[in-house]
Amino acid sequence: MRDLFEQEEEGLSIPIVPGAVLLRGFANDIAQQLLGDLERVLASSPWRHMTTPGGFRMSVAMTNCGTLGWVSDRTGYRYDRVDPASGEPWPAMPATFLQLAAQAAAAAGFDRFVPDACLVNRYEAGARLSLHQDRDERDYAQPIVSASLGLPATFLFGGIRRADKSRRLSLAHGDVVVWGGPARLSHHGILPLKEGEHPLTGRCRINLTFRKAG
Ligand code: SIN
Ligand code: FE2
Repeated sequence: MRDLFEQEEEGLSIPIVPGAVLLRGFANDIAQQLLGDLERVLASSPWRHMTTPGGFRMSVAMTNCGTLGWVSDRTGYRYDRVDPASGEPWPAMPATFLQLAAQAAAAAGFDRFVPDACLVNRYEAGARLSLHQDRDERDYAQPIVSASLGLPATFLFGGIRRADKSRRLSLAHGDVVVWGGPARLSHHGILPLKEGEHPLTGRCRINLTFRKAG
């Protein structure tokens, strides 16, 4: 549930650091359409738990849509045109996804953002993503747009260096974080998800991360 403080912030752009902004509730109006379109993506490329290069099973379940999909396996991280599970190209990025990504990027000051990759993350209770940088993309001039749906989570947002102090931001359904420019290589992560139930996503949180990868 969005707490009273977050309700008051709805529609606000909250600066995090130069180049990074939290857009409270930015995806609220389109959330149901995004989730409906996600069902069609999942019909071709279902959830899977990828393996890290070190051999660990990721707690977050993932899939992708768009021309390029982010993949992790024993050989490393990469973007691939083909879903390794199906041997087919990833499902096309739905128009609603492209629209949300472009509008959120523009609201954060990044015009004409056209992502070619959307990584979709599903967190169940206990699932987490440790502090990392997004650095598998070709052009760091392009921002990252990250939309939260369903259960709330605590987002860690740190600095360019791994040891830099990180801030904790509480992300609720509909919140969108955009980082680029001087913040493009900021470390970030998600603390273990707390149990809960959300009317649109059930017992999980879904995150859409849009990137121009190629
Ligand atoms: C990511 O860093 O890929 C996802 C972050 C999130 O789930 O909010
Ligand atoms: Fe990331």
